Amino acid sequence: MRSQKPADVSSRHLLSWRDRTDKDWHQMVHRSVEEYEDRVHPPGIRGQSIGLVFFNPSLRTRTSMEAAAARLGMHPVVIVPGQGTWAFEWRDGVVMDGDRPEHIREAIGVLSRYFAVLGVRAFASGTDYLADRDEVHFRAMLQAATVPVISMESAFYHPCQALADAAALHTHFRGATKGRRFVLSWTYHPKALPMAVPNSALLMAARMGMHVTVARPDGFGLDVGVMACAREYAHGHGQRVEETTDLNAAAYGADVIYAKAWGAACRYEDPTREAALRARHQQWRITQALMDRTHDGVFMHCLPVRRNVVVDDAVMDGPQAIHLLQAEFRLHAQVAILAQALTDKR
Ligand code: CP
Repeated sequence: MRSQKPADVSSRHLLSWRDRTDKDWHQMVHRSVEEYEDRVHPPGIRGQSIGLVFFNPSLRTRTSMEAAAARLGMHPVVIVPGQGTWAFEWRDGVVMDGDRPEHIREAIGVLSRYFAVLGVRAFASGTDYLADRDEVHFRAMLQAATVPVISMESAFYHPCQALADAAALHTHFRGATKGRRFVLSWTYHPKALPMAVPNSALLMAARMGMHVTVARPDGFGLDVGVMACAREYAHGHGQRVEETTDLNAAAYGADVIYAKAWGAACRYEDPTREAALRARHQQWRITQALMDRTHDGVFMHCLPVRRNVVVDDAVMDGPQAIHLLQAEFRLHAQVAILAQALTDKR
């Protein structure tokens, strides 16, 4: 009889790097850079299958995960719930007499029987802040899984993006990220986007020993728990995390401008007020004039990006933009993550 949940599996899930030690984090950054420099992969992975479950759309994550699996000799299978699958029920203890014939518990339990590892993308609900903050949906899937689950972006975190960004910065600055000035800049966007990427970028930069400034309008502060964790990481490196509403001042002398749009927390209880608040800040766009204030700083974005809304063409097409290096590192970081999930005994 096969064991339902091997003892070492839960610690191999990847929901957020907050669950991993500093040593693990920095090892994975180095492992991603080694992948970029063409590392030989450990045996025992070739021929295994990975299930990639996408509750939300993707270009980079989907293709780079498939490419990462292929690089390791694995077989990727993409599952798009609602397109050829049954509709999933998430609630516990309900009478399932509606239009959702399969519970997520069985769905993930079954997929765990077919695949050596699962990747899952499930964005924030946008309607229940505490449930999103506590990753209630994602944790329900982790509970049901008997193989490692890699988050391909959850409600609050995007660990694959964070590792790729860290390895890209490590490579760009030739390992010297400590003490660099990193500005996470809110930008205008016509939609109230989730906080997974800004949360992850903030924690990543602090953990890389950078001096972090979060520049955002009033009302767009990030989660207090995530900010506190970032401050703790930064403190460990003798650095600080600051907040400002003055992007021009923050950009002066910066080494990195990381642009990202996100919705105000008030969208959860009052989307109309949030939309009105956001609409007042359309001038929050990364321009070449802003980049000229930096210390020959780089421009970063996780993509997709709305040109001339979030960032001007001149920046995207100019020499300071490293968004394609970030995107390339998605592949290398995910090769490192999959190889670790399948080979390391933790
Ligand atoms: N950055 C990122 O996750 O891109 P996709 O949404 O296209 O996967």
